[in-house]
Amino acid sequence: METKIYDASTIDEAAELLKVGELIAFPTETVYGLGAIASNDEAVKNVYKVKGRPSDNPLIVHVSDRKIAQYVAFVPQQAEALMEAFWPGPLTLIFPMKEGVFAPTVTAGHNTVALRMPAQEQTLELIRKTGFPLVGPSANTSGKPSPTTAQHVLHDLSGKIAGILDGGETQIGLESTVLDLTNADGPVILRPGAITEVQLEPIIGKLAGSAQTTNEAEAPKAPGMKYQHYAPAQPVILIDGTAADWEGVIEEYRGKGKAIGILASEEQLAVHKAAARATYSLGLKDDVAAASQRLYAGLRYLDEQPIDVILAEAYDLSGLGKAFMNRLEKAASSKYPKKQAK
Ligand code: TXA
Ligand code: MG
Repeated sequence: METKIYDASTIDEAAELLKVGELIAFPTETVYGLGAIASNDEAVKNVYKVKGRPSDNPLIVHVSDRKIAQYVAFVPQQAEALMEAFWPGPLTLIFPMKEGVFAPTVTAGHNTVALRMPAQEQTLELIRKTGFPLVGPSANTSGKPSPTTAQHVLHDLSGKIAGILDGGETQIGLESTVLDLTNADGPVILRPGAITEVQLEPIIGKLAGSAQTTNEAEAPKAPGMKYQHYAPAQPVILIDGTAADWEGVIEEYRGKGKAIGILASEEQLAVHKAAARATYSLGLKDDVAAASQRLYAGLRYLDEQPIDVILAEAYDLSGLGKAFMNRLEKAASSKYPKKQAK
């Protein structure tokens, strides 16, 4: 199958293909999603197959507006306020599932369903033209970094899907915040993202919990978060330390004759560039939004370089830093210094 690139002028054709069960990747403000019409179980099964996704990991359903009562068992009051405040945008909400609405495979045996309205006009148009919501897991091969360009999607899925709606580079670069509204003790963040606790709490009150950035075993309700993720082929060493720590790690790998890649801020690269075979800049250190936007492209770029190891720079956990570090920690095979980061 040839994977065709679509744009605004050919969007009707992409929608027609979705209607008959083909897969079309689409851009969002976070990362690219792998679209299939959420009513067709064969199409949805094909999404799992093409990604190599474990069958117990449910998919997010993408809707084109806030009128979602028809898709879920009920809409909690908190959800109304959250949709008003953050939709369209990078917030996925978990609702009690309504039987018989979506294809069974969408929810992978769970009695809840995840919905999100992406902030990307082209993709909202694609959903409207298809006439039904679309599932949209990140459009990468399972375990690899999520795609932030149409080229990344092609790299992973060329020949396996009917097409890609090209919307250029994604803006945020990290997947949406996933918020569970079905938890008896109160709302819980299952996956940190661009919408943070600090933004959510004024609207819905204190959260009952938030996924740890370090210990994924403690977030069993986000099925997808237990898998290794976002990882290039080489080991990624996360460095949360001083200039001396950096030098120590660099010396250690150089001593073993290893070619080093560095994924770090401009400031860090300025110091250590000479020791590396390949580098990728995350932007200026005080700009965690830039680092987030560039993270997956950087991991993908370094994955392709003739290097044996990737040294990556830790960022501060405030604001978007929490989501950034959550993804980087999942990509990393070890941390340096070996203290437990909080
Ligand atoms: O930003 C995003 O959310 C992107 C774009 C394309 O929209 N999509 C995305 O999908 O990241 P995916 O499938 O890669 O991640 C979905 C996450 C997984 O961790 C999954 O386990 C969780 O959401 N999830 C989906 N349905 C769930 C449910 N019913 N209960 C708990 N977690 C759920
Ligand atoms: Mg994913």
